[in-house]
Amino acid sequence: MQEWLKDSVFYEIYPQTFYDTNGDGIGDIKGIIEKLDYVKGLGCNAIWLNPCFDSPFMDAGYDVRDYKRCAPRYGTNEDLKNLFETAHQKGMHIILDLVPGHTSDEHAWFKESCKPGHNEYTNRFVWTSNVWDSPEGYRFVCGTTDHDGNYMVNFFSSQPALNYGFHKITHDWQLPADHPDCIATREALKDIMKFWLDMGCDGFRVDMADSLIKNDEEKEGTMALWQNITEEIHREYPKAVLVSEWSCPKRALKCGFDMDFYLDHWGHGYHSLFREITKEGENRSFFSKEGKGNAALFVKEYMEDLLATKHDGYISFITCNHDTPRMSRWMDERELKLAYAAIFTMPGVPFLYYGDEIGMPFMEGLVSKEGGFSRTGTRTPMQWNGEKNCGFTTSDAPYLPTGKPGETVNVEQEEKRADSLYHTVKDLIALRHKYEDLQSDGSFEVLYVKENEYPFIYRRGNLAVMFNPGAKPVEASLPGVKAGQETIYSIGEASLQEGKAVMGAQSFALVRM
Ligand code: GLC
Ligand code: CA
Repeated sequence: MQEWLKDSVFYEIYPQTFYDTNGDGIGDIKGIIEKLDYVKGLGCNAIWLNPCFDSPFMDAGYDVRDYKRCAPRYGTNEDLKNLFETAHQKGMHIILDLVPGHTSDEHAWFKESCKPGHNEYTNRFVWTSNVWDSPEGYRFVCGTTDHDGNYMVNFFSSQPALNYGFHKITHDWQLPADHPDCIATREALKDIMKFWLDMGCDGFRVDMADSLIKNDEEKEGTMALWQNITEEIHREYPKAVLVSEWSCPKRALKCGFDMDFYLDHWGHGYHSLFREITKEGENRSFFSKEGKGNAALFVKEYMEDLLATKHDGYISFITCNHDTPRMSRWMDERELKLAYAAIFTMPGVPFLYYGDEIGMPFMEGLVSKEGGFSRTGTRTPMQWNGEKNCGFTTSDAPYLPTGKPGETVNVEQEEKRADSLYHTVKDLIALRHKYEDLQSDGSFEVLYVKENEYPFIYRRGNLAVMFNPGAKPVEASLPGVKAGQETIYSIGEASLQEGKAVMGAQSFALVRM
């Protein structure tokens, strides 16, 4: 496992809405360079940068037109190189967003592929035998090109699926993964990765990593493909890291990813902790003050994943990401403090989404921007201060609106307020850097969890980490546990006493055992 991940805390930056330096209303690479000290000041020592490549932006940049060119609206390749170098000088790492599953329908490969007949790029994408052939169970775009076939899409219709082959062949137009044209796709992907690694980036977040090989329910083909890629990348770039958008650590970490995200999927443990909102609008998340959650569901799933992947890589907890509603949509400041306390005290490598450190709101009711749809409210500009557009841009036409200064949070104000969420986040990250027990590799043992009950207590090395997010005080019997020696950090009233934990309403404590 990569040495530098042992004490890494990532910050996710959505480039279009982070910081605009040239007044065109869109964030840029120079803006990120200017704000590196801010990110470092929070305690984050690594950055995941969402797609910053040339694109028609039908899916906010996840529709790549040229993998080797910085989108002009963000800057140049030279700016990116500068970003890597400046970050490294500050002891930070930068990973880019790799989109291996599909290109934009404006990518040069796809344009070639769309030509009639057969050429070098025809099989770079997945085509049926002719336009009348559109088998069920797949998503195709039909009859929009001169090529006599329908192309498979991976996400939106503007995102044709790259062809890495099929695990089970069920139709004559499907190629096996070891077909030379599928291998050519794989090698083209490695070439893109090496291009940016050579320029100085530190690795990649890998988009829809589980989607590459088709007809692959058990993901055997996809895993073999990644095994091949990660092995070569790690051999040639021993310090590069890869984090997968897969949300299945048992698979992702087994085929060479260094980290895998827990994503916000209904019914999953991560979801049940932070975003379990019923159809009727009732908050049943464990970290809501309603006290109606169930941490036991999370523990069962997590322990299984943790044990199965211990020596392979890390599970990554996120405060949010660009696809997920910000927790602040349903949680107040105190609830967020406790929720983040969990995220920053778990094993693995945590990720903080820009703006979550100040509890930036999920903006309701926005018209979709660049394929954002219901995700748009999570992607609004970073709110830096109380000036125009909250200091994001001087433009009259920002990429997306910010909240109104005076009515919403901003960094400047939260830095000044001593008991703000911002300071809690900073404190928690600082504690993680200070205590090795809290870092990626530190041990994890559950001390107390019961179905539909509070509190939830775990142990990291010599530290007890205790949570009672509910509004009612609780006690938990912990036979054999001695009174805590020292409370290192707490929110509200909580202590470890002889044989039990005593916790006030909405409390958290980090106690030496
Ligand atoms: C991933 C990205 C999402 C994008 C999709 C298609 O889920 O996180 O933003 O729209 O893949 O690339
Ligand atoms: Ca700009």
